[in-house]
Amino acid sequence: MDEYIAISINALVENAKIEFDVFLKSDVNGRSNYILFCRGNQQFSPERNEELLNRNAERLYISTKDIDKYLRYQEKNLKCIVEDSSKSSLQKSGVLYQVAKNLTQDVLDDPKSGQNIGRASTWVGNTITHIMQNENTFSSLFEVTSKDYQTYTHSINVSVIGLLFGKYLSLTPNELECLGTGLLLHDIGKSILPQDILNKDNNLTSKEFNIIKKHPKAGLDLLELMGDIDGLSLKVVIQHHENNDGTGYPYGIGGSDIHLFGHISRIVDAYDAMTSDRPFAAAMKPFATLSILKKENPLYFNEELLREFICFLGPKDQRNKCRIDDILSTTTSVAK
Ligand SMILES: [Fe+2]
Ligand SMILES: [Fe+2]
Repeated sequence: MDEYIAISINALVENAKIEFDVFLKSDVNGRSNYILFCRGNQQFSPERNEELLNRNAERLYISTKDIDKYLRYQEKNLKCIVEDSSKSSLQKSGVLYQVAKNLTQDVLDDPKSGQNIGRASTWVGNTITHIMQNENTFSSLFEVTSKDYQTYTHSINVSVIGLLFGKYLSLTPNELECLGTGLLLHDIGKSILPQDILNKDNNLTSKEFNIIKKHPKAGLDLLELMGDIDGLSLKVVIQHHENNDGTGYPYGIGGSDIHLFGHISRIVDAYDAMTSDRPFAAAMKPFATLSILKKENPLYFNEELLREFICFLGPKDQRNKCRIDDILSTTTSVAK
């Protein structure tokens, strides 16, 4: 028997071809019937959109077997969706996050695919358009981010937080594009490391930690092979674990030898890891995280940028609504 999943009532893009069947649901005597509204491979005309609005339906439905087609449709039409003034900031943020989940998983599954890398930079461009549109994007993007730490959700979160921070720092559109792409791909080198080490709790042996430390260089090598990634994006990939005091990895460089994007990514990377549920630590609230970054490990970070980051984020990260209680535990450590 077919199963169906609800999609937003305004998920369809006018004048774009729909590549999957779309259904409306009617409940009769406690039984749900799914009635075909639009067959796949048809253009969604303004008249059909009008018809849909007149029906006052709350949701549309697609077959669960068409979920992949639906995600690709959203990705293909992302620019139209982001620029559509009839959609709310939250709806746009939700679509951006869905699309990012799908494409980041594809990037990590097949890190040598130039096509996937191209999809990543297109996504960054659309996210920048969304962020530049209005101030609401900050809260709506934070609302849709996941707090479960997996490499792909972490990659999306740091890219989104980094882009918002970059906007706050008045970076140019081109710089934002390079920063966002670098952050989305910053841990791509992890895709070729043994997964059992990556998923292990915090008690890594020094041998295992040395393997983890290879991921920035592995990521750089992978992306350099593709040829067309901007050097600024590569700075993020290679320097996101370098500490301001020279105690980081892979090269142990510090201070002004680290590029601005390296400093930004070190802060954003640690912040997202600590505010997410990891295998060995529950998510911390934003305030506790910022306190730890500032008080306990100030030498890891560029002081001025950290101060800016706290001003930028302190009062705004809405994810604290669903976080565990603030515990400034002595066992807590900054993400390595
Ligand atoms: Fe990393
Ligand atoms: Fe990371």
